[in-house]
Amino acid sequence: MRSQLRSELDDLTRRLIDQAIEARTNAHAPYSGFAVGAAVRSANGRVYSGCNIEISSYGLTMCAERVALFAARAEGGAQKLEAIAVIGPQIENTAIWPCGACRQVIWDLAPEASIYTATPDGRIECRTCADLLPDPFGAAQLSVHRDSLAFNETSDQDETGEDT
Ligand code: THU
Repeated sequence: MRSQLRSELDDLTRRLIDQAIEARTNAHAPYSGFAVGAAVRSANGRVYSGCNIEISSYGLTMCAERVALFAARAEGGAQKLEAIAVIGPQIENTAIWPCGACRQVIWDLAPEASIYTATPDGRIECRTCADLLPDPFGAAQLSVHRDSLAFNETSDQDETGEDT
């Protein structure tokens, strides 16, 4: 977990934050008024941005981070995603971090990314996905489960699952 002044950041990170700020201007948040912008950088330097998009049937709303991550994936950014910036309203004494659903998506699509946010007093904070989502569920658990199914299929069992 790191906290830096904007002036202490490297150029790429400063630019990524600016791209999230820019993406935020496209937010469609007529119901909450809570505009969020995100930008994701892949290892080849390409940046994909996103904003939150609210839908009148509220549950269909999509967060800025997921819009950006899905765009990266859809536009061929399948290679390593190394940094994500998220910028929300600058609320006193608090920084906006990705919501729980977005943390899961980050874990699946960009597990090694550094995640940056800005605080209202002008500091930039950085966390890893492991910081934000301890003990995550993911592909590893599914593959253990798949392996155990494969094992059961080859063992001798009756239809109740009991070994014969
Ligand atoms: N929102 C995001 O875009 N990202 C987050 O990580 C938290 C929440 C959006 C969703 C909704 O449009 C608004 O913020 C209020 O929840």
